[in-house]
Amino acid sequence: MVLQARNDVVLLLGAPGAGKGTQARVIADSLGVPHVASGDLLRGHVRRGTELGQLAKTYMDRGDLVPDPVVTDMIVEQLDRPEALRGVLLDGFPRTVSQAEALDERLADRGGAVRAAVYLEMPTADLVERLAGRLICRKCSASYHQVHNPSPSGSACGVCGGELYQRPDDRRDVVENRVAVYMRDTLPVIQHYEASGALRRVDGTKDIEQVRTALRSAVGLDDLVLAAA
Ligand code: AP5
Repeated sequence: MVLQARNDVVLLLGAPGAGKGTQARVIADSLGVPHVASGDLLRGHVRRGTELGQLAKTYMDRGDLVPDPVVTDMIVEQLDRPEALRGVLLDGFPRTVSQAEALDERLADRGGAVRAAVYLEMPTADLVERLAGRLICRKCSASYHQVHNPSPSGSACGVCGGELYQRPDDRRDVVENRVAVYMRDTLPVIQHYEASGALRRVDGTKDIEQVRTALRSAVGLDDLVLAAA
């Protein structure tokens, strides 16, 4: 498995709508580590009306990135939690080279590293359709699609029974800005991890099960099954 030392992390990278949230929880459970999603944490702050949430909302509603220091501190706080010592699956972070450098530094200080930066590749043209049909659970953040991945419980969440809703930043004009921000600020993060040798590419256009199988292999879960056999 890729997580070899305390404080090691696996990253799930990809454009808005590439399928990170759909896969992250299952992969994190299989790795036996917490799933830490920057977007979910920020939406939690918005919901609770914290100072951070009020600031973040002004950026998120436009599809812009929340400033680096705010997001980096929020993630480092999660990495310092005792349950994160065995490792973490980070979803949606880092999104700028500055965030990536801060993460690398923080992990190196504690003897850890980014062991795998898994990049879910998707043509940008398909992202709007994916996001326009997306429904999210208000309670547990599980992600569905009206056509490709409907909830088995109809208009309620198949995991926890919570109410499903459409995220306000999934409006077409906001999605277009999120994709443009991704191309400008986050594609260089892919290059950053390509240069470090941690990047692993997975074709995000396949169906959900095929993507999951490829992801399991990218994070070394297949090796684990073979070793246990
Ligand atoms: P965040 O919540 O991280 O959103 P995002 O990266 O834009 O990603 P999404 O959640 O939109 O997409 P996803 O890849 O998880 O797709 P999903 O699996 O749901 O960030 C929101 C905002 O917070 C940002 O805009 C920014 O303002 C702020 N923020 C967050 N992190 C930040 C950071 N580090 N720095 C600064 N600001 C930050 O799938 C999408 C749809 O497709 C679903 O309907 C799903 O069912 C469907 N689907 C998934 N896989 C497949 C498949 N294989 N085939 C068919 N359909 C599929």
